[in-house]
Amino acid sequence: MAIKNVFVIGAGTMGNGIAQVSAQAGYNVTMSDVKDEFIQKGMAAIEKSLDRGVKKGTMQESEKKAIIAHVKTTLNMKDAAAADLVIEAAPEVLDLKISIFKQLDEICQPGAIMATNTSSLPIGAIAASTKRPEKVIGIHFMNPVPVMKGVEVIPGRRTAADVLEASKEYVKKIGKEPCEARDYAGFIVSRLVDALMNEAFYCVMDGNKPEEVDKAVKLCLNHPMGPLELCDLAGADIVMHGLETMYEEFGERLMPAPLLRNMVRSGDLGRKTGRGFYDYTQK
Ligand SMILES: NC(=O)c1ccc[n+]([C@@H]2O[C@H](COP(=O)([O-])OP(=O)(O)OC[C@H]3O[C@@H](n4cnc5c(N)ncnc54)[C@H](O)[C@@H]3O)[C@@H](O)[C@H]2O)c1
Repeated sequence: MAIKNVFVIGAGTMGNGIAQVSAQAGYNVTMSDVKDEFIQKGMAAIEKSLDRGVKKGTMQESEKKAIIAHVKTTLNMKDAAAADLVIEAAPEVLDLKISIFKQLDEICQPGAIMATNTSSLPIGAIAASTKRPEKVIGIHFMNPVPVMKGVEVIPGRRTAADVLEASKEYVKKIGKEPCEARDYAGFIVSRLVDALMNEAFYCVMDGNKPEEVDKAVKLCLNHPMGPLELCDLAGADIVMHGLETMYEEFGERLMPAPLLRNMVRSGDLGRKTGRGFYDYTQK
């Protein structure tokens, strides 16, 4: 299953990063979106990201130009007809993703791999909306795409073995490491991060100071960021939504801690509201 042409759906935060790293690895890339202004923003983000390499001296200006020349753009999803691999990076809305995959089912060549970059939606449900669930897989990049080494690869129940292998090969070819995960809520990464954050909320409820919890995780576990700082950055409401999904899937052990519910009810959502585990109003 040789992959040459990669078609990326969505030129946003993740889509432009995926287009960039694929072009850098020599794939012919087409990046699509629904409006020209989003395409322009995506291309500008790619240029800015590559410029960092030029400034650092790790990339020549000529290489940057060659990479950018490898990225075509389109507003027409029918251009996915030539793709060997499609990676969908549209917003995290199941109905939207299902409608995109139904269209891809009509457009793509029979051998094409149809991947979604979803962070949390079930691969099985997206696959089941097509007539070729064996070709559908999750390829979950981390943000920022050009920087993060790990990529979760998530086969659904009906994903074919050769589709899984070809997806892993693609991930390796773009200089990253595939981590194979099962199709349960949160896959591996979000599930573990949510579990860590939830237990950190209980630590605070037990009387630990937030700054001590974060310090311990950073200095003793070598994490770059503490779980409470991370919650403040992501937003307590977003974290709670993620944990509610985990709770539905796994039951009590991932039930959101009462402290988190209390903070969300009180509007203490973190950085975006000025208060969370820390006070941002003075900074
Ligand atoms: N941002 C993150 O940190 C992150 C990390 C991992 C995974 N993800 C997942 O990646 C996906 C994309 O997230 P994002 O942060 O890049 O979103 P984003 O909002 O930055 O970009 C989404 C883009 O998709 C476009 N789009 C919408 N419908 C489309 C269609 N039918 N065809 C083509 N383009 C369409 C939008 O116009 C937008 O430009 C989501 O599923 C998200 O959960 C995000």
